[in-house]
Amino acid sequence: MTRHKITPRKVAFDWSGTRPQWIEGEAFVSHLTNSTHILLPIVEVWFCQVFKEALPHITDERVREDVIAFMRQEAIHGSAHKPLIEHFLKHGMDIRGGVARTQRLIDTLLGDPSRIFGLLPTGKRLARWWLGTRVGIIAAGEHFTCILGRFILENEELPKLPVDPAMMDLLRWHGAEEVEHRAVAFDLYRHLTGAPLTSRLLVLGFIIPFLTWYWIESTRYLMKQDPGLAIKPGFFAEWRKASRRNLIPSARMLLGGSWRFLLPGYDPADEADTEVALDYLAKSPAVR
Ligand SMILES: [Fe+2]
Ligand SMILES: [Fe+2]
Repeated sequence: MTRHKITPRKVAFDWSGTRPQWIEGEAFVSHLTNSTHILLPIVEVWFCQVFKEALPHITDERVREDVIAFMRQEAIHGSAHKPLIEHFLKHGMDIRGGVARTQRLIDTLLGDPSRIFGLLPTGKRLARWWLGTRVGIIAAGEHFTCILGRFILENEELPKLPVDPAMMDLLRWHGAEEVEHRAVAFDLYRHLTGAPLTSRLLVLGFIIPFLTWYWIESTRYLMKQDPGLAIKPGFFAEWRKASRRNLIPSARMLLGGSWRFLLPGYDPADEADTEVALDYLAKSPAVR
């Protein structure tokens, strides 16, 4: 259970000096992180739709209060990343096609069950199962956004590079709020379904291959769309090099951390330190 009152914060970013390769000389790391501008505005709206659907089924006031604050934070996150799509266009990088394809993918995979199962009208039991499963997918996704949030907050190597300060702040502010609300989706998942092991295996079995595939494909796509990048580097070799330099999390950190989600005593509260997140949020230029 979340022990901290979650606060949605308004933010403002000045992108006027930001280029798609926001870390000079680090095209791969820049575009790996830029993939968040495509996926997050879409999935975070979807999070809000699913949680809105879940609201009438919540019988615990504390869970409801956290869910509402979570929805407000995620809505702000999505809209903070979104302007970068138009901004990159000014730098000759058109990623609108990738955004449209991602939207179609999310709608097809995770949207209205009638579209997925071909069942009309959808039975009540199936609809309830599908709601609980989608909340579980969000909880599993939030397990990883917490790992990533912690990584970006605690990372000491990135600030040593010539990074764009606005982009660094966006990632750290977002990461900090992911740490702050890390328990909400799992609390809701447990509240609605009991979060049994079979369901956790199912949702983790979806989220790991999905995120791995999406991250590889979207990073390759972004590098392809970048007119300033003559040679498009290979994904796996670049990942290994960048993670060894501690610029991005290693596959071991991400996959090695996934099994904890399956433990009977799993508690997202143990996954990070809220104080570290609040310290950053108190000094984030975008929040101030
Ligand atoms: Fe978020
Ligand atoms: Fe989140």
